[in-house]
Amino acid sequence: MDTDGIKNWAIDYIGRGLDSDRFCYHGLGHTRNVACDVACFGAESGCGEPEKQLLAAAAWLHDAGFVTSGQVAHEVESARIAAEVLPGFGATAAEIDQVTKLILATDLASRPAGRLEEIMRDADIGHTGTDRFGQEAALLRREIAVGGKSFTDLEWYRFELAFLEAHPFFTEAARRLRGEKRLANAEKLKSLIALGLK
Ligand SMILES: [Fe+2]
Repeated sequence: MDTDGIKNWAIDYIGRGLDSDRFCYHGLGHTRNVACDVACFGAESGCGEPEKQLLAAAAWLHDAGFVTSGQVAHEVESARIAAEVLPGFGATAAEIDQVTKLILATDLASRPAGRLEEIMRDADIGHTGTDRFGQEAALLRREIAVGGKSFTDLEWYRFELAFLEAHPFFTEAARRLRGEKRLANAEKLKSLIALGLK
């Protein structure tokens, strides 16, 4: 499977097709971060080359569905796009099946099955354990506001904290590499909420 080709295809498809005013969070920056984090968490988890390739392909394509379907059922749409384009990059039927499952596993309402799906899920929210958290959260807040739902600062801090509490990292690798910073980000939100309540 030609993962470099898939990466270049995704960069072109998302770069040219996504309405970046509407989806300022779910753009190329997010996709690049997820591709970076699957490589990072995959290596830390001891994944072999074939697993790393599946993760890379899934990461590059996992939010391509925003181009055509927007927020609604974008995981299913991304999986459909992946099944359509992957044969052109030499993917076998088994690889296509695995990559589409990894993409569907990014649905936050689903329960990841197995190590690779867990790595995908952690990578999709890998920024929650980095210094970029506040900056990325601001982009997501703007994207949701453009979609019609605005938050006060206090409402937003509560929303973000509830998100962190509802979606802990699944893998030991993500916890090891990002757990401490994630905890600090949650503590910062709690302080902001406490200040807002005074
Ligand atoms: Fe994503």
